[in-house]
Amino acid sequence: MIELKNIRKSFGSLQVLKGIDLSIERGEVVSIVGPSGAGKTTLLQIMGTLDAADEGSVVIDGTDVTRLSTKQLARFRNQNIGFVFQFHQLLPEFTALENVMIPALIGGSSHNDARQRAEELLAFMGLTDRATHKPAELSGGEKQRVAVARALVNKPAVVLADEPSGSLDSANKTELHRLFFDLRDRLGQTFVIVTHDESLAAQTDRTIHLRDGQVIDDETTPAEPADASKPAPAKPLMEAPASAEDAPIGGTHNDPTPTAPTPADGTPLPDVGPIRRNPLDPTTTPETFLA
Ligand SMILES: Nc1ncnc2c1ncn2[C@@H]1O[C@H](COP(=O)(O)OP(=O)(O)O)[C@@H](O)[C@H]1O
Ligand SMILES: [Mg+2]
Repeated sequence: MIELKNIRKSFGSLQVLKGIDLSIERGEVVSIVGPSGAGKTTLLQIMGTLDAADEGSVVIDGTDVTRLSTKQLARFRNQNIGFVFQFHQLLPEFTALENVMIPALIGGSSHNDARQRAEELLAFMGLTDRATHKPAELSGGEKQRVAVARALVNKPAVVLADEPSGSLDSANKTELHRLFFDLRDRLGQTFVIVTHDESLAAQTDRTIHLRDGQVIDDETTPAEPADASKPAPAKPLMEAPASAEDAPIGGTHNDPTPTAPTPADGTPLPDVGPIRRNPLDPTTTPETFLA
């Protein structure tokens, strides 16, 4: 899915990447770890075509991106790669819903299609009642989940995340990490995650250790025996809180009878347009949403 060959990159006289070779399979969840300044962000940006290497080739899903023009590259990135950054990078003047819609609109979706898909994704993340809020009105965990929804809106094959949980507390961190694995398990997306979080790195299929611009270790985590803690395939990804008011940041997973969120004063939710499937219906799977 991602093939990097002999990637080299310098900033002035500083050699940041010194010949990186890396091959990442479809559906793999790979973590990249290493000390600050090792070149992790630079590598991820090159992988995501946000920056160009001085030397070497980057092939994503069969496309040699080093051969694309700037315009072709922008299109390729929009359609194939989702980004999640440490500090969400949501646009402050737009609502959560609009932030999620933007990459779809840029990609040429109609306003209705973009809106519908953004609503589905926000519902899927347990954020329907936050859709009309601007980033400043959301908690850290909510902002990061909106950022994940935005990364997924164009159904990219690859999701790249640069310290996505770096600004979250431990409950939200766990929640976000679970979301990545659920998405991979159900949708087969490929994730490359730069992280300082050892517990996350330990859960990924593979951990690439970077130091001074070189891969010093590339370890595959041994396959675990069938794990009862893994969510059953038909379970909704995020269950709704009993009420929007006492929703814990990051949602809840232990309420066996999820109910639709309603505002505390009982007023009906604003009409956000048609949502074809109810995300709270236990028979709904992410595939039906995102397919
Ligand atoms: N645009 C840039 N211009 C100059 N130096 C940079 C630039 N981006 C990164 N660097 C330098 O490259 C090195 C690696 O940076 P980075 O890839 O951000 O490391 P990491 O993410 O592992 O902390 C650092 O020394 C950093 O200061
Ligand atoms: Mg970095």
